Amino acid sequence: MKKRFKAEPFKIKMVEPIKQIPYEERVAALNRAGYNLFALKSDEVYIDLLTDSGTGAMSDNQWAGLMLGDESYAGSRNYYHLADTVKDIFDYDYTIPTHQGRGAEQVLFPLLIEEGQYVISNMHFDTTKAHVELAGGRAVNFVIEDAYDTEKYHPFKGNFDVEKMEAFIKEKGKDKIAFIIITITCNSAGGQPVSMENIKEVSEVAKKYGITVIIDAARYAENAYFIKTREKGYEDRSIKEIVREMFSYADGFTMSAKKDAIVNIGGLIGIKDDEELFNKARARLVPLEGFVTYGGLAGRDMEALARGLKEGIEYDYLEYRISQVEYLGNRLREAGVPIQYPVGGHAVFVDARKMLPHIPYYQFPAQALGNALYLEAGVRGVEIGSFLLGRDPDTGEQLESPLELLRLTIPRRVYTNNHMDVVADALISIKDKAHTLKGLEIVYEPKVLRHFTARLKPVGE
Ligand code: F0G
Repeated sequence: MKKRFKAEPFKIKMVEPIKQIPYEERVAALNRAGYNLFALKSDEVYIDLLTDSGTGAMSDNQWAGLMLGDESYAGSRNYYHLADTVKDIFDYDYTIPTHQGRGAEQVLFPLLIEEGQYVISNMHFDTTKAHVELAGGRAVNFVIEDAYDTEKYHPFKGNFDVEKMEAFIKEKGKDKIAFIIITITCNSAGGQPVSMENIKEVSEVAKKYGITVIIDAARYAENAYFIKTREKGYEDRSIKEIVREMFSYADGFTMSAKKDAIVNIGGLIGIKDDEELFNKARARLVPLEGFVTYGGLAGRDMEALARGLKEGIEYDYLEYRISQVEYLGNRLREAGVPIQYPVGGHAVFVDARKMLPHIPYYQFPAQALGNALYLEAGVRGVEIGSFLLGRDPDTGEQLESPLELLRLTIPRRVYTNNHMDVVADALISIKDKAHTLKGLEIVYEPKVLRHFTARLKPVGE
């Protein structure tokens, strides 16, 4: 019999208890949280699929590395190990540690953006967009149309529509483009990969117009795995070879190391060979994050990160990782729960608009589904839809997101497939009573970043 998933390439040395709280307590907790899952205490959650960021389990080798932290203010040996590892994996000359991904964005972006310029991406992540805007830029997305059709198979739904992108560059003029940022995998489109061919094409267009290319590298290893398993010509290449080729097409990267580098905190800026940019970035690093050889990190964190970068590109690990996410996705799809297909690298995205067609976007169907899942099984997902998107800043009107998704984000090396079964069973049972679920209305919202602190209530209650 063909196995439907790859078993864990590790055994478990330490465990952390989790428990299901009784149904009545879940009802009370959700009510207290204002129907916003961000406001739950983690002790009120049984299986936490809010994010894959900083939630992974480090290996014994990474924990051992913590004991070898060199906490010297300047010149820590862990920094040099980290920089050597970056050189080895990405073939980039310059490494700058930061406290997490957004720290890297904060340091680098203002050096590349002039007021009013555009930053082009397949899809910007929220903090990436925010840092573009804080630096005076405007964020525009050119992911292929197929990304918005959750049922349509495309092996690389994170790809750029290169023609459309080039037409935009021509229309605005190359001087109006600050840089292109390739988000791998494309989180906001469902953890969807970008093909090598597409990365190459984007970089060729960039070269033609003299535009800098940056990679948002949070899930670079998962992207490389998809290239190896889905793109012709890469079957026999190692993950590291694929990573090197991907990064050869860019000039620099920002990375949240809390994802594929499997650490609980950390980030990086990598610069291929531009010494001047490196020096400018280092000068901004000191007041914003910390001295050049630690950024926002302790020496021990840099050691765990250097080791995590190496573990994150191991093929057996990636095969297990991706197949676990796929296992959950397949169980849902086979039972008729609509999901973004094919399944992405770090999460299963449930299509709440399809599952709850009776709830309009302004009553936040994916948030309603997330709440139902919490009540059903103590599982916490996260809404990626109109509630996250927010209001038009000029008119105050609620904007309609092109997709209403509930993201079930799988932490790395943390849960087993038995946990995935709990999640799948719960969603399948919700599917049968989906028509009874109610939409939500906002009771309180702050002006910015409401997703995290707004309070809601079921419509009509
Ligand atoms: N870029 C991408 C593609 C991300 O997914 C994230 C974070 C960041 C940048 C920012 O990195 O959190 O280390 O500052 N994504 C998390 C998520 C928060 O849940 O998807 P950070």
